[in-house]
Amino acid sequence: MPAQHRWLLAELPRDRWSDQTLPPVASHWLAMHQGFRQAQAAMDQVIAAHRAGEIDAAGLHPRLIPTLGGFLQHLDGHHRIESGHYFPQFRRLEPRIQAGIDLLDRDHDAVHAHLEALAEHGRAFHQVVTSRAPAGDAARRLAETVDRAAGPLIRHLDDEEDIVIPLMALRFS
Ligand SMILES: [Fe+2]
Ligand SMILES: [Fe+2]
Repeated sequence: MPAQHRWLLAELPRDRWSDQTLPPVASHWLAMHQGFRQAQAAMDQVIAAHRAGEIDAAGLHPRLIPTLGGFLQHLDGHHRIESGHYFPQFRRLEPRIQAGIDLLDRDHDAVHAHLEALAEHGRAFHQVVTSRAPAGDAARRLAETVDRAAGPLIRHLDDEEDIVIPLMALRFS
């Protein structure tokens, strides 16, 4: 993230983030993000097992699809609340952070395109498996889509925390 958006983090660095220094809404925000990271890690792990030949496409299905479904639903809802409710509030609260919020809003659009691709390839994989057709190609396409989405998503979570967690801690009081 460009240095110009990091001044709030300098006021409250990560090593001083704790339940004692953060308002409950900020702790909740971090917990949500941690849940997305855990879901991403769980998906990465089962995909790696599939690629290593430890589980076939039919075995991948029940390990991946429920996690992916919850991940997509929660992440979409989370972004809607951020862009629709919190970000406008942050812009009013701290006008100097406008450009940083613009960057996060653009991230949401970019991540959303990945979520749509994940939903599409997830559905395709599900249909092939439930029709008992060979599912190797659909599994590979879904796995590649998961790979492509991971980097932008994880970077967004980190960048967003660097801006909004100190903002909430320093201004929500
Ligand atoms: Fe976000
Ligand atoms: Fe977020």
